[in-house]
Amino acid sequence: MKPLIVALALVLAAPAPAAQAAARTPHDLRRLAHQNGIRIGTAVDVAALRTEPDYRAALNREFTNVTAENAMKWESVEPQRGVHTWADADAVVDNARRHGQQVRGHNLVWHNQLPAWLTEGVQNGTIGAAELRRILRDHITTEVRRYKGRIRAWDVVNEVIDEDGTLRKSIWLTQLGPGYIADAFRWARQADPRAKLYVNDYNLEWNSPKIEATLALIKDLRSQGVPVDGIGFQGHLGIQYDYPGDWANVMRRFADLGLEVAVTEMDVRMVLPVTPEKLATQAAYYGRALTGCLSVPACKEFTVWGFTDRHSWVPGWFDGEGAACLLDESLTPKPAYTTLLTSTP
Ligand code: G3I
Repeated sequence: MKPLIVALALVLAAPAPAAQAAARTPHDLRRLAHQNGIRIGTAVDVAALRTEPDYRAALNREFTNVTAENAMKWESVEPQRGVHTWADADAVVDNARRHGQQVRGHNLVWHNQLPAWLTEGVQNGTIGAAELRRILRDHITTEVRRYKGRIRAWDVVNEVIDEDGTLRKSIWLTQLGPGYIADAFRWARQADPRAKLYVNDYNLEWNSPKIEATLALIKDLRSQGVPVDGIGFQGHLGIQYDYPGDWANVMRRFADLGLEVAVTEMDVRMVLPVTPEKLATQAAYYGRALTGCLSVPACKEFTVWGFTDRHSWVPGWFDGEGAACLLDESLTPKPAYTTLLTSTP
């Protein structure tokens, strides 16, 4: 080919600047995840996964990581003592495997969504402390072993620090003493040595007593050789409150301990009705949160607590609030979704 023709061919083949920019902007969250080397996850509603093809399609198109919203909690997997019901949790894990998604296990020790046989047994004294400790060990061992090799990370203890920085006065603390936390991590490590083990909590984005107490707890555990690998920031925000502007610095403080950092349950609720202004503020909150995570090398997971307003815990818990997710009820992307796609560190 003559040099002139070669030069012309190269010019014609080169994308125009606008096309280059478009090529850099990912078209969905899965691509955003790959471009940034992070996992982008969502909580999964098992009933919707089973019965709503459009929900299933969006879930599998957009996300590289999943968390069962309720299906792995103790009341779901052992509703009667010794009777395990794994079908819902299996459905989440099996669907994830078929679609190349990693799984966050949620959760092993919590004060909520415990089966009635357990809470009532403790309350009426038929389950004493020694037995309760065995029950907890068996629960952790059974569930973690069942999904060994299929769950990347477990929320081992969920919400164990109170707002004032003291240990939460759950049945675990009052019956077993503070050692239950170290025990839980050790039992989980034994059951699946490769799973990453997390402390997970809310309001950790801004609440100083909680932040300081959680840092101190994890330092103390690690100094005793307890296998804590990561910290999960739930990230339940609302636009009626200021954005927690120091959040990325808080992430760095945990990362400096050598921990993995993850955003585990992000959503941004608002007082209804929805307005364009509120959606814009919501988008800014989501964008700042992702940008914060991307600016901290240890933060490699950004998980939302449900991706559609069709299925969100918010309206059931906060009167008059809602619209907290990235997609609306009909799965149409909201401004927050578009903002995430263009977020950079
Ligand atoms: O499954 C029962 C159903 O049988 C019953 O008929 C119905 C009537 O109330 O309740 C159903 O259980 C509900 C369950 O979700 C499953 O849908 C519970 O009432 C309801 O309280 C429960 O709420 C869950 C909540 O945790 C419980 O604390 C939310 O879906 C779930 O999104 C939420 O998730 C938590 C995270 O695990 C930890 N961080 C905070 C986050 C939001 O609260």
